[in-house]
Amino acid sequence: MSHKLFLLPGDGIGPEIMKEVKAIIDWMNANLDVSFETDDGLVGGSAYDAYGVAISEEDMAKAMAADAVIFGAVGGPKWASVPYEARPEAALLRLRKDLGLFANLRPALVYPALADSSSLKKELVEGLDILIVRELTGGVYFGEPKEIVTLEDGQKRAIDTQLYTTSEIERITRVAFDLAKTRSNRVASAEKHNVMKSGLLWKEVVTKLGAKEYPDTPLEHVLADNCAMQLVRRPKQFDVILCDNLFGDILSDVAAMLTGSLGMLPSASLGAPDEKTGKRKAMYEPVHGSAPDIAGKGIANPIAMIASFSMALRYSFEMGKEADMIDKAIATVLEKGLRTGDIAKEGDTVVTTSQMGAAVLEEIKALA
Ligand code: NAD
Ligand code: IPM
Ligand code: MN
Repeated sequence: MSHKLFLLPGDGIGPEIMKEVKAIIDWMNANLDVSFETDDGLVGGSAYDAYGVAISEEDMAKAMAADAVIFGAVGGPKWASVPYEARPEAALLRLRKDLGLFANLRPALVYPALADSSSLKKELVEGLDILIVRELTGGVYFGEPKEIVTLEDGQKRAIDTQLYTTSEIERITRVAFDLAKTRSNRVASAEKHNVMKSGLLWKEVVTKLGAKEYPDTPLEHVLADNCAMQLVRRPKQFDVILCDNLFGDILSDVAAMLTGSLGMLPSASLGAPDEKTGKRKAMYEPVHGSAPDIAGKGIANPIAMIASFSMALRYSFEMGKEADMIDKAIATVLEKGLRTGDIAKEGDTVVTTSQMGAAVLEEIKALA
């Protein structure tokens, strides 16, 4: 059976790291019993330059029709002054919203070979394996009103609205608990019920649902600010961290640094299963952005992007064996000492994006 992949490389380092995923897809098509049909689109600043919008209607339609979207990164200083609605990031938010991708899985895994690349002490992060489950289509990212208004006295007032309903909280809570059951079976729910009404509802809904549907999974509530602190104090206390859209964005960047670099963290964004086919819409993207400071130099770490493709195999195509193969290949390449600049220590030989991608592909070949 053929799987339809829609590739959106985007801006900055996006196309550089997507190239390494394309090489893996080409090799899989030629050598394994799979068939990926790929199509490329423009997103973010590159779409703005071509069409004057952050994503064209044609490419939105292709994303909707694909079995999975593989997304690089968007944004950069070049587009700092484009209209707000056409800014590169608007495309990413529209894709998430229109595809209904409410569940964002951000695993932070410390590869053994990188245990001393973290900014934390080795013993704090060695063996770390946490999963941030971030709500992705609600909260302050999308709540209305969202505007800047000019007041009578000439001042301006900016409004963002944090908004959650019971059902939005329930469906992401189920995702977190279901995944916890496949792991160490612990959920920590992060919110700020001490300040926010949405935090109060979040805590109430998670508590009720946890007790009713997942009585055998220990649930802990942690204030989001304390959660950020605990992540750098003693990260291994966590298994699954469940949080809203904004806290999830921030906590996952913190978690990324525990693994050595933002260039290591993949993600999967999933929709609800279709009532008829059971298939979920999905998009896979690294947690990091377009890294304008290193774009065009060929030195970006492609691992987060490659590991995001591995998540696509696991979550969209039931290809767990092939996903394991890619994850193992990444671990082996790191064990052999290959390092892009972001994960290199003094004395390490630093490789380029394409050398790292090629080395991972070589290991995949060896494992196949
Ligand atoms: P960033 O993630 O692009 O970069 C932060 C730092 O991490 C930079 O020093 C960068 O060089 C480094 N870095 C990131 N990915 C790396 C990789 N693969 N290899 C090596 N180093 C890497 O965040 P930023 O600088 O705050 O944002 C830049 C632009 O990206 C902004 O326009 C922002 O909105 C956008 N952004 C997009 C996404 C996305 O497309 N999913 C995510 C985050 C930020
Ligand atoms: C992320 C990014 C996005 C977010 C931006 C680029 C809209 O930071 O995916 O983590 O805030 O969700
Ligand atoms: Mn982010």
